[in-house]
Amino acid sequence: MKAELEALQVEALEAIQTTGDLNTLEEHRVNFLGRKGRVTDILRGVSQLSVEERPLMGQAANAVKVVICEALDARKAELTVVAEAAQAESEAVDLSLPGRTPRKGHMHVINQVTDEILQIFGDLGFQTATGPDIETEYYNFDCLNTPKEHPARDSHDTFFVKPGTVLRTHTSPVQMRVMEKFQPPVAVVIPGRVYRVDYDATHSPMFYQFEGLLVDKGITFADLRGTLMHFIHRMFGKDIEVRFRPHFFPFTEPSAEVDILWKAKDRHTGEMKSQWLEILGCGMVHPEVFKHAGYDYEQYNGFAFGMGVDRIAMVKHGINSIHHLYENDVRFLEQF
Ligand code: PHE
Repeated sequence: MKAELEALQVEALEAIQTTGDLNTLEEHRVNFLGRKGRVTDILRGVSQLSVEERPLMGQAANAVKVVICEALDARKAELTVVAEAAQAESEAVDLSLPGRTPRKGHMHVINQVTDEILQIFGDLGFQTATGPDIETEYYNFDCLNTPKEHPARDSHDTFFVKPGTVLRTHTSPVQMRVMEKFQPPVAVVIPGRVYRVDYDATHSPMFYQFEGLLVDKGITFADLRGTLMHFIHRMFGKDIEVRFRPHFFPFTEPSAEVDILWKAKDRHTGEMKSQWLEILGCGMVHPEVFKHAGYDYEQYNGFAFGMGVDRIAMVKHGINSIHHLYENDVRFLEQF
């Protein structure tokens, strides 16, 4: 039994010393010292021995047990240090790595330009009004002196929601909604989305307009021109080239369109090109429109204008296609 004990101790110490991880070490503990372990077995066998042998062998077995126990504890301490170091290594944070900043959004260029326009007219004392995108034919056309068979309706290429209801083709219907609510003097600007069946480099089926309406006593075309020139100079600087062209709108008389010289890179050749771009329509409010509003057209007159916000943005920033504005390509939008 003595030899057996010695061999067991040698075997156990060898096994413990060569163990590389804590799980295997625990297996050794169970195997040697556990309830059914090999040392435990021997200790149990001691009671079968003769009275003389019992204390001797009992002490010897206990001594082996203590040696193995100590070896297990010592190895466990070593392996724990190694395991903790490995964990620290794998979970380490490298403070020298460059950080990842979350991307920040910002206002869309259309909204930036709309805000700029609002600011300019706000400084002149204009108030802001809005109206619905889905309009009745009455507000979009009829009350603006554009009855059913009027050829001017064709130029708008209207999206019909259902008979009598349209996606508004311009912001002008809001003129009437404002006049129905307020008596003159009235000075409002009206930003909003409008819709037309139209698609090319300078047209999009949905685009943004900006309407203006001023009604008071003794307003003249000179007031209209002066107001618009003030706006254009603040928006684009005093050097911008501007031209007023006579035009026709059913709801204004006389009417004009305003073009400005637009400089942008040609999409194909990359060369700088300049070309006249129509940015707005305007005129003196037609007496028929005042009649629908219930305004006394003998006493009051006024001017109105409607501009394409997209066009303003294109001229201001040298953008060569309206579609850049609506494709939501972040590489484009980030430039503004
Ligand atoms: N509503 C016109 C358009 O969209 C623009 C306009 C507005 C013209 C007000 C005159 C007066 O083309």
